[in-house]
Amino acid sequence: MSGPSVQIHPLRRRPSGLADGLGRPLHDLRLSVIDRCNFRCPYCMPREQYHEHYRFLRSAERLSFEEISRLTSVFLSLGATKLRITGGEPLLRAGLTDLVGDLTSLPGVEDVALTTNGVLLSQHAAALRAAGLKRITVSLDSLDPAIFATMAGGWGNPDEVLRGIQAAQHAGLAPIKINTVVQRGVNDDSVLDLLERFRGTGIIVRFIEYMDVGNRNDWRRERVLPSQELQARIHARWPLQALDAGYRGEVARRYAFADGAGEIGFISSVTQPFCGDCSRARLSSDGKLHTCLFATDGISLRDPLRAGASDVELAALVRAVWERRRDRYSELRDELRARGARHAEMNYLGG
Ligand SMILES: C[S@@+](CC[C@H](N)C(=O)[O-])C[C@H]1O[C@@H](n2cnc3c(N)ncnc32)[C@H](O)[C@@H]1O
Ligand code: SF4
Repeated sequence: MSGPSVQIHPLRRRPSGLADGLGRPLHDLRLSVIDRCNFRCPYCMPREQYHEHYRFLRSAERLSFEEISRLTSVFLSLGATKLRITGGEPLLRAGLTDLVGDLTSLPGVEDVALTTNGVLLSQHAAALRAAGLKRITVSLDSLDPAIFATMAGGWGNPDEVLRGIQAAQHAGLAPIKINTVVQRGVNDDSVLDLLERFRGTGIIVRFIEYMDVGNRNDWRRERVLPSQELQARIHARWPLQALDAGYRGEVARRYAFADGAGEIGFISSVTQPFCGDCSRARLSSDGKLHTCLFATDGISLRDPLRAGASDVELAALVRAVWERRRDRYSELRDELRARGARHAEMNYLGG
């Protein structure tokens, strides 16, 4: 999507690297490996919409592991170094550990992470670690079974996720991060219990503001709990100190517990947009390149790949898309929503 023109600070352009229309490099690639999920979180895949007759991608429409690896190499040749495997629920993709093994051994990869709802993690943690995965992010919105059920659409339970986290610890995956979507009036009161549980364990909880991803989650601004308000609530119980960003483009604002019990983060796309530093490309499970989480549509890389395009031709295509990129949806949210902007769905695009 394009917005009003913006001046680019000269230092924002990398002299030799690829930069988009706003001077942002391409550093991260998010790979959605499947659009299916075993949860129906109402903020992502509400069950009324993702019912038993919903048409998910067929396996022939999805990229094969070979195709994912090949396209990933193309992104690596253009400067990407960090990969995140996501979905949908990535652990539903059969043989995922093979893909992890392929991706972690690609030349130029510095970091591979995976985001999961954790329900199948206890079965897979050791194999994922053995395949080369080092760290993992597990989503967990509440420890309270009733609130968990509301947030997951009636599927799974906190104990299964906790078992998955324990298995990840035993397997040596580190750091383990927890993603918690916060919705005012739904789980915001149970957030302190979650912190009580994980403070001092080395596990980093990150609170995500409820976002208007996709078109089906009935997003309303009044259900967003601004991170600043949440931070104040936490600070009143356990004083917090701000930490510097770990690297340019880090989405989470980091805080340490003043008593030394570890760190937490806030991902505040609604109230404190971070478009200015966004270096993420997204590849959907059917091989479309999207340049924003809130994009309407993407450009197929699968079709030219299957039609016989060479790596050089695919790289030229990605380069051209990235150089045209001017997305900054979160900074223009109100204006674009007023114009009726449509978004690709998050389970398809990859969170
Ligand atoms: C789309 S999920 C995919 C991976 C996996 N199924 C999981 O839940 O971890 C990736 C992340 O996006 C988050 N997410 C989904 N919908 C969201 C929304 N509307 N607002 C904020 N975060 C959201 C999830 O909580 C999860 O942490
Ligand atoms: S957030 Fe993750 S677990 Fe929840 S429905 Fe979306 S893809 Fe599934």
